[in-house]
Amino acid sequence: MSLLDIRKEYQSRDNALTEDKISLKEPIQLLNEWFDQVKNHPNILEPHAVCLATATKDGKPSARFVLCKSHSKEGFTIFTHYTSRKGLELEENPYCALTYYWEPFNRSVRIEGVAEKLPFSVADNYFRRRPYDSKIGALCSDQSKTIKDRNILTDKEKELKDKYPSNSDVPRPPQWGGYLIRPYVMEFWQGQTDRIHDRIRFRKLKDGEIVDETVTHKGEDGWYYERLAP
Ligand SMILES: Cc1cc2nc3c(=O)[nH]c(=O)nc-3n(C[C@H](O)[C@H](O)[C@H](O)COP(=O)(O)O)c2cc1C
Repeated sequence: MSLLDIRKEYQSRDNALTEDKISLKEPIQLLNEWFDQVKNHPNILEPHAVCLATATKDGKPSARFVLCKSHSKEGFTIFTHYTSRKGLELEENPYCALTYYWEPFNRSVRIEGVAEKLPFSVADNYFRRRPYDSKIGALCSDQSKTIKDRNILTDKEKELKDKYPSNSDVPRPPQWGGYLIRPYVMEFWQGQTDRIHDRIRFRKLKDGEIVDETVTHKGEDGWYYERLAP
């Protein structure tokens, strides 16, 4: 299948990330402004869906979508199975990347950071608030392991639903928990009709790094920002 001839005309909007819009800000504030706009858009069903890329210690990458239901200046919180492929990769290499894409706004945000496990009390709090089927689903799957066929899962689901009826307390799987991903790079990409796209990168400086102040500007909360060629 060739997709070479598919061309989209982006909607023209007054959304350029001009220098005056970004001066003296830090990236979480800007991300929140973007989330306020994308979260209620009727064509964005999962605004919190984000592609998480991890890598083994010797640098072999893998990527998959997860839901990031909360973020703050501290970082980005995701929940998963610690024994999954991503969990094992984060165990040996905590450096990872997250990428959002919101098509109706022609926007993407790229984050690079370091993942650390959250206390199980945080996972318990979130797990309790999940819908019944999501709890049973997490409990019946040993995520990323090979299994013989689908019946293995549906039989386990039935067994668990008998054991834990919908009005009961479904326990959190012991290997299911949260990560906090502390960002050190966050890049905002705003596509433009004329293809002169905006790329604004916020980053933390390396120890002892001296910046060229004509291109790299001091933001807030220890962040510096700069424009990249699209
Ligand atoms: C939109 C979307 C959201 C997802 N959210 C999660 C999530 O929050 N946590 C999770 O463990 N898997 C989530 N998944 C499933 C993962 O993409 C993936 O299949 C699973 O985590 C196993 O990945 P791994 O084998 O690389 O560890 C989601 C999938 C999609 C498409």
